[in-house]
Amino acid sequence: MAAVLIFLQIGTGLLLKFVYVPTPLGAYKSILVLSHSVMFGRLLRNIHHWGANFLVLIIFLHMLRVFFTGAFHPPRQFTWVVGLGLFSLVLTANFTGYLLPYDQLAYWAVTVSTGMLEYIPVVGGLLQEIIRGGNEIGPATLNIFFAIHTAVVPMGLIILMAFHFWRIRKAGGLVIPKAPGEEIEERPNRVPTMPNLLLRELVVTVVIIAVVMLVSVSFDAPLGNSANPGLSPNPTKAPWYFAGPQELLLHLHPVFAVFIIPLVLGVALMGIPYMKYDTDAAGVWFVSVKGRRITLIAAVIVIIAAPMGILADEFLIDFVARLHGVPAIIGNGVIPFALIFLGCAGFYILIKHRYSATSSEVVQAIFVLILFVFLILTITGIWFRGPGMKLTWPF
Ligand code: HEM
Ligand code: HEM
Repeated sequence: MAAVLIFLQIGTGLLLKFVYVPTPLGAYKSILVLSHSVMFGRLLRNIHHWGANFLVLIIFLHMLRVFFTGAFHPPRQFTWVVGLGLFSLVLTANFTGYLLPYDQLAYWAVTVSTGMLEYIPVVGGLLQEIIRGGNEIGPATLNIFFAIHTAVVPMGLIILMAFHFWRIRKAGGLVIPKAPGEEIEERPNRVPTMPNLLLRELVVTVVIIAVVMLVSVSFDAPLGNSANPGLSPNPTKAPWYFAGPQELLLHLHPVFAVFIIPLVLGVALMGIPYMKYDTDAAGVWFVSVKGRRITLIAAVIVIIAAPMGILADEFLIDFVARLHGVPAIIGNGVIPFALIFLGCAGFYILIKHRYSATSSEVVQAIFVLILFVFLILTITGIWFRGPGMKLTWPF
């Protein structure tokens, strides 16, 4: 599905390029022309828009499937790392594409998110200037984003995707599913690719294209007013796939939310396949029966604790910090970070001693903790934040 959607993006993207004009004055107008005067123009834009959204969702699910079946274990470690590279490229594609219509949504979301780069120590300012092509969002930014979006990203995607598939074949195909503790010597029941696999892939292709088509004829891609640097909308929200990090930023000092946590998580994600594991869990869903139970416990803990944490931070903790005159980097950075770390350590001790968890089960449990925190932050950011980014009800 991910591969089909990428080819769909490249196909529709190439067609969009015939009409799209990458200048601040021309961009918005060209989207209007596309939507109103070009035959099937609006449908084309809708397919590109919804395809991009589905792609993020499907890659995320693919990553979860790979993780929870332990398909990152040898010899598939590097396939996982290449996958992470693909994920970053797709996020880059979405982020750079977001600016292209040059409407209010685009202008302000990109202003706010590139503004965050300032908080990266030492190189942040320079990085921001390079990405924006100057001090603020303008013609140079649009030019840079357009070049990255329509040349660098597609080239990178094609190369990495080929590499991904080659690695999968080098590893002897997909991981063999097995029950906990079962030893499998040989690949069972081989069948010819044609027609067995090909037919299934064809069905998947047709179904995913049909779904994207159905959504695209039913819902138009959003388009705000033309970009106005003098008028910022309230609230200025990031696109939904960045709602989690944006929500985190409301709770933690930017140095932690923008730099330290993403860095730690990125390194940890890449390191997952290279850790030392004491059991062979490749191909077993959730490692073991016990692993499944621990995973469930981790999820329940976060589902209860994370919303409480968000509420406490909204109504209690900031108040305490202000009351005692604690510097922001400590009150909103070091203290909550230490609390999160202690929480994880406490959980580690619990599952290690109470359940004598193996290293695979421990890594899986911590992954689930972080995954659910991320999901809850994302849900809160998308549906429970209103004007001034205050907590509100979604309806
Ligand atoms: C994984 C691949 C890609 C993703 C995820 C992606 C994503 C996006 C997104 C989210 C937008 C904004 C759409 C909107 O809401 O208005 C966009 C616009 C655009 N994309 Fe892509 N894109 C991809 C590949 C490509 C390629 C390969 C090209 C061309 C070679 C391309 C050309 C364009 C153009 C011209 C626009 C501006 C028109 C518009 O905004 O509707 N895209 N893209
Ligand atoms: C554009 C993004 C991606 C595309 C097109 C893609 C495509 C594929 C395909 C077609 C397969 C074989 C079928 C399957 O296992 O479902 C596969 C397997 C795999 N992918 Fe991806 N993938 C992408 C992203 C990722 C990501 C984000 C990760 C992990 C971080 C990842 C890690 C893996 C691994 C480890 C395998 C081997 C699975 C196994 O042997 O069971 N991929 N990928």
